[in-house]
Amino acid sequence: MLFPFLARPLLAGLTAIWLLLGSALPAWAEFSLPPLPYASTALEPAIDATTMTIHHDRHHGAYVANLNGQIAANPALADLSLDALQGQISAFPMAVRNNGGGHWNHSQFWAVLAPAGQGGSPSPELLAAINKNFGSLEAMQAQFNQAAAARFGSGWAWLIRKPDGSLAITSTANQDNPLMDLPGIERGVPLLGLDVWEHAYYLKYQNLRPDYIQAWWSLVNWKEVNGRWVKAKLPS
Ligand SMILES: [Fe+2]
Repeated sequence: MLFPFLARPLLAGLTAIWLLLGSALPAWAEFSLPPLPYASTALEPAIDATTMTIHHDRHHGAYVANLNGQIAANPALADLSLDALQGQISAFPMAVRNNGGGHWNHSQFWAVLAPAGQGGSPSPELLAAINKNFGSLEAMQAQFNQAAAARFGSGWAWLIRKPDGSLAITSTANQDNPLMDLPGIERGVPLLGLDVWEHAYYLKYQNLRPDYIQAWWSLVNWKEVNGRWVKAKLPS
């Protein structure tokens, strides 16, 4: 039995050697919780610091821990990136679907947000695509808001780039997302995803989900969304 203070550096060293040898990640390589890219207070007043801290540290943290808890029973997880897992999720049990989806969804969620006034605006190219598909930015937002408000129970609203290159608004239940190879999912590359689980807003907004949705738009990190749009157009 290794002393705890020796075990972590030893594992880190073994991981580095393994990667240098070009092998797939070993079974003891785990998924990790990304830090928030800003302070927990940075999105106030639209999203309060307490909600951000609980949401990131406890909820997202639990998805990561629970996903790692599935590796022993599902060793194929060790060979998949978090992105790749989404497209093969049907091959795994529900616990991997829920927690693997939860990890991916929340990782994108923090990244598509920025403090108010710092997120920029849609690029001319993305705006042209939005105008072509929805008529206007406002019309896209109205359709997105409707999908987010109408999602019964817990889930997500998404702006996606479909395989045919068009943009669409869709919604998924629980921790599913548009990358998943599941029946009933409108598939595409997510450009922007909104968490409408009550844990995302209830402390401040209680039952007023539409108010949360409206305030959330002031936080969208369009610089990140623009980059996702460019990347989504690249051949896979
Ligand atoms: Fe969440």
